[in-house]
Amino acid sequence: MPPSFAEARIDLSAISENTAVLARRAPGAAVMGVVKADGYGHGMLPAARAMLAGGAQWLGTAFIEEALELRGAGITCPLVAWILPPRAPVAQAVSADIDLGVSTPSLIGDIAGAARETGRRARVHLKADTGLNRGGLTADQWPETVAAAARAEADGLIRVTGLFSHFACADEPGHPSIAAQTSAFHEALEIAGKAGLEPEVRHLANSAATLTLPEAHFDLVRPGIASYGLSPIPGLADTGLRPAMTLRTAVALVKRVPAGSGVSYGHRYTTDRPANLALIPLGYGDGVPRHATNTGPVQVGGRRRTISGTVCMDQFMVDLGDDTLGAEPEAVLFGPGDSGEPTAQDWADMLGTIPYEIVTRISARVPRVYGGTG
Ligand SMILES: Cc1ncc(COP(=O)(O)O)c(C=O)c1O
Repeated sequence: MPPSFAEARIDLSAISENTAVLARRAPGAAVMGVVKADGYGHGMLPAARAMLAGGAQWLGTAFIEEALELRGAGITCPLVAWILPPRAPVAQAVSADIDLGVSTPSLIGDIAGAARETGRRARVHLKADTGLNRGGLTADQWPETVAAAARAEADGLIRVTGLFSHFACADEPGHPSIAAQTSAFHEALEIAGKAGLEPEVRHLANSAATLTLPEAHFDLVRPGIASYGLSPIPGLADTGLRPAMTLRTAVALVKRVPAGSGVSYGHRYTTDRPANLALIPLGYGDGVPRHATNTGPVQVGGRRRTISGTVCMDQFMVDLGDDTLGAEPEAVLFGPGDSGEPTAQDWADMLGTIPYEIVTRISARVPRVYGGTG
């Protein structure tokens, strides 16, 4: 049974409205809401429905299994899964009308085989590696794979619905790789066009590019983090986005300790005066990074404070000084920031990471509680 004292409250209206904001930022393009990794920790299905309510026409996942879960829940929009490791359930995906991202030449044959097996035409998005050097077909592989895809299309086995790529540094406006990748993508599109491919959608933009690079919008944008209200570029002004997740918990207990008390494992914090210590029942088992020891920001009893001592598996402590807390006190680790609580961006800044990691790592032990209308 999930605990009732803590929750990750998810504001579904924020997710829909963020999606609508992003759609307005890319007026000529459709929106693919990215819901991989359990909707960046927000809950894949509710997030997907909220994005669709906000105007997304496509949804994107990393893995086929995630897309199958969406289909199984009755989501009928086009879905793309773009990482196909060995033993990926390709035939199941083809049966479920899930579009498949192709990053290796041999996948064309595999997918065509799945199309024969299932009797359904497979939908494929060829992914060009334009410089991220992660997934995607290299410039060397692109012409032969495009040709193989065109043949499989002529045979009626596949339909190339999309051509796409992914940026390495779109979160660093002005980075020279942005223009280089955009131009490499244009070249890849030209080669595909010459081979006779006419995709429904060409797509390149993640959240950062959706917000800052109109020239990269093409037919479809693929925002993930921005849909959840977090900025892909720290400090980017006037995004109009609202963070959707608030992580909070009841305070488990408050105790008075003398000056010089070592607190939590390893005594990495020592009280410099007699102090009230609050026990916050969330720890690294819930996704609170252990690196937040002595640094993580947290609002307790309405005031912003700092974690005192080591973050344990299920709990951490906060030195309240002489403050006392009212009845049923609460701790807010992060939220939209409207009431003085820290944000996921504050946590990321403190820990030298990105807000993506802060929200996505909140574990299944923390119940997601949904509010707003998706
Ligand atoms: C291929 C692809 N497109 C889009 C996204 C969404 O990126 P972001 O969350 O930065 O918008 C991701 C996420 O990593 C991705 O892998």
